[in-house]
Amino acid sequence: MTEPTEVTISTYEEAREAFRQKHLRQALYDAGDVVMADVLVNLHGDEHRARRRLENRLFRRDSQMLYERELFPPIVAETLAPHIAAGGAELVTLSHQMMMNLAAFTSGVDRPLGTPEETFRLYSYLMLFIEGATLAHYTGDREAKRAEVAAALAAFDVEFLQPSIRRREDAIARCESEEIGEDELPRDVLTVLLRNRDDLELPDEVVLRETCFYLLAGAHTSATAFVRTLDVLFEMAITSPEDAERARHDMGFLQRCVHETIRLQPSSPVAMRWALEEIELSGGRRIASGDKVVIDLMSANRDTAAFGESADLHDPHRQLAAGVAPWGLSFGLGMHACIGQELAAGTDAIGDVDVQDQLYGLVPVAVQAVLAAGIHPDPADPARRDPASERGYWAKYPVVFGR
Ligand code: HEM
Repeated sequence: MTEPTEVTISTYEEAREAFRQKHLRQALYDAGDVVMADVLVNLHGDEHRARRRLENRLFRRDSQMLYERELFPPIVAETLAPHIAAGGAELVTLSHQMMMNLAAFTSGVDRPLGTPEETFRLYSYLMLFIEGATLAHYTGDREAKRAEVAAALAAFDVEFLQPSIRRREDAIARCESEEIGEDELPRDVLTVLLRNRDDLELPDEVVLRETCFYLLAGAHTSATAFVRTLDVLFEMAITSPEDAERARHDMGFLQRCVHETIRLQPSSPVAMRWALEEIELSGGRRIASGDKVVIDLMSANRDTAAFGESADLHDPHRQLAAGVAPWGLSFGLGMHACIGQELAAGTDAIGDVDVQDQLYGLVPVAVQAVLAAGIHPDPADPARRDPASERGYWAKYPVVFGR
């Protein structure tokens, strides 16, 4: 078989156009099907539309307000408490534990004990699911890793998912018999799936994978954005102390610091699609049916035509032209645009939205919580990057709390 032709798109405008093409089908997770087969981000056309329409309900403004203002703060505090009490932490682990606990809440994976041990068990499953979803980048024995991930999914099902399903089925039955109201049902993806599984024709294993996908889609991306923002802020404290000080007290400004970080360091450096038909983009570029389209987000997000001459720099004061998103294309666009974008990064509202309605997003909220606890890098134990990571992940990031 001949290799498909690869077409790389690297300007902001062309990338926007590509994301909106309905004849381009998801290609990024082809090798990750052990976790990603039939999950939302891998569906296309009518099947995608039907599931997205239902899951969208969970991400309406009123739910997001409830998450950000009432439901998330105690989870952030509970996750941070032991680390603050210990006077320090390793940020990569802490970030994943915190974002995982938040993502478990939105996905519908209960943590009935609420103990650090339980968090740790869920965390080890999550780390394997991430490896499963990104098998394309795995350099070791892929078949062995796939089998390990499949076994972890089965164990997670018994340990976490089935008890969560039983609790929700019970709540749904009580809601149907009007013993409890609609507003007393859990607000999570699993409840949406269970209430609509006949319409959506969802077999058990798809319910399992969709729930795991939400867990990792919410946790891993937000955790990396959290660590990277803190790294930027630590640097800012040296190069631009006034800005760093402002970020500690001005949530809108801190939010812009997060957006710039997400723009410059997208969680996935590329998006990928298969062309289902021949396509011609407005600039004249032709994509043949069967081509693989690589949308280079690292380049598109640094396109000077969209972000100006200083596009490569982290600048929370950046003035953006109308229609240019401060996070660039890091949340995608078009049919697969991130469903959790506002939940993660809030609404971009500097200046023109009533503070009452402003969502800051869970990444800025979590960063603010650790800034308030006096976080700074551990001077005795410098952070180091993972040499095996193509994505510039940190291997260890020791921090201390207190002033
Ligand atoms: C900083 C945080 C986040 C980043 C950078 C991010 C990034 C992305 C990107 C780039 C896509 C599009 C993928 C593509 O087009 O191939 C996406 C889709 C998605 N994201 Fe996020 N995400 C974040 C947080 C979240 C959170 C918190 C959730 C869940 C609560 C979430 C759930 C999803 C889902 C379900 C999709 C698939 C949507 C669809 O296919 O219709 N994400 N995300």
